[in-house]
Amino acid sequence: MLLRAFCSLARKVPRTVYRVSLAMKPQVVFVLGGPGAGKGTQCAKIVENYSYTHLSAGDLLRAERGRDGSEFGQLIDSYIKEGKIVPVEITINLLKKAMEETMQLDKERFRFLIDGFPRNQDNMEGWNKVMDGKADVKFVLFFDCSNKVCIDRCLERGKSSGRTDDNRESLEKRIQTYLQSTRPIIEQYEKEGKVRTVDASRGVDEVFADVKTILDKEG
Ligand code: ADP
Ligand code: C5P
Ligand code: MG
Repeated sequence: MLLRAFCSLARKVPRTVYRVSLAMKPQVVFVLGGPGAGKGTQCAKIVENYSYTHLSAGDLLRAERGRDGSEFGQLIDSYIKEGKIVPVEITINLLKKAMEETMQLDKERFRFLIDGFPRNQDNMEGWNKVMDGKADVKFVLFFDCSNKVCIDRCLERGKSSGRTDDNRESLEKRIQTYLQSTRPIIEQYEKEGKVRTVDASRGVDEVFADVKTILDKEG
C-alpha cells in the first residue's frame, strides 16, 4: 500500500516540476500619462514590434460597462463621465482575468503592457494586494505631455470616438484626476528608479523611436 502510494507520488513529482517551469511569471510594464498622451497609440505600435499583450484598464472597464448582466455597468458609466477612478476591486479583477486568459491561450504570452493603471493610490494598493509575488513590474513607461496637448488630442478624438468622456467638461475633471491622483503615483515609482519617460508631445513616429530605444535596452 505504502509502496504503491510512493510510486504514484514519484510519477507525479517530475510532471509537476515540468509544468511549473513552463508557467512564466507575468512580466508587466505599466503605461501611464495624461488622457490623450498617446498611451493606446504607442501600445498598439509596441504590440506590432514586440511580444507584448496590450491590456488597457479603460478598455476593460468600458467592455464591462457594456456587458449584459454586469452588476457594475452603471457605476463604471458614472465614474467614467466624471473622470473618476473606479474602485480597484473591479479593475484588478478585470486585469487579472485578462492576464490569466491570455496566458492560458498561449503560455509564451507572458509580457503585458498594462495601460492606464495604476492611476491612484487605491489602484496601487489593490495591485500590491492581489498581484504581489504573482507578477513582476519591470518599469513604468511614462508618456509626458502638456495638459493642453492632451485636451486638444482628446477633443479631436471625440469627433469620432463615441466616448462619453472626450468632451471639455469631462476632460477638465480627467485632467484634475490625473494631476491630483496619478502624478503622485508616477513620482513614487520615480523615487524607486522605475520610470522611463518619453516626451509624448511630438509626432507618433518620433515618440515611438524613443519607446523602441527603451524597450531594446530593457529587454
Ligand atoms: P491615450 O490612450 O493616452 O488616451 P490615444 O493613444 O488614444 O491616447 O491618443 C489620443 C488621440 O491622439 C488619438 O486620436 C490619437 O490618434 C492621437 N494621437 C496619439 N498620439 C499622437 C501624437 N504623437 N501626435 C498627435 N496625435 C496623437
Ligand atoms: O485610460 P482611459 O482614458 O481609457 O480611461 C478612461 C476612464 O476609465 C478614466 O477616466 C477612468 O474613469 C476609468 N479608469 C479607471 N481606472 C483605471 C483606468 C481607467 O477608473 N485604472
Ligand atoms: Mg487609451
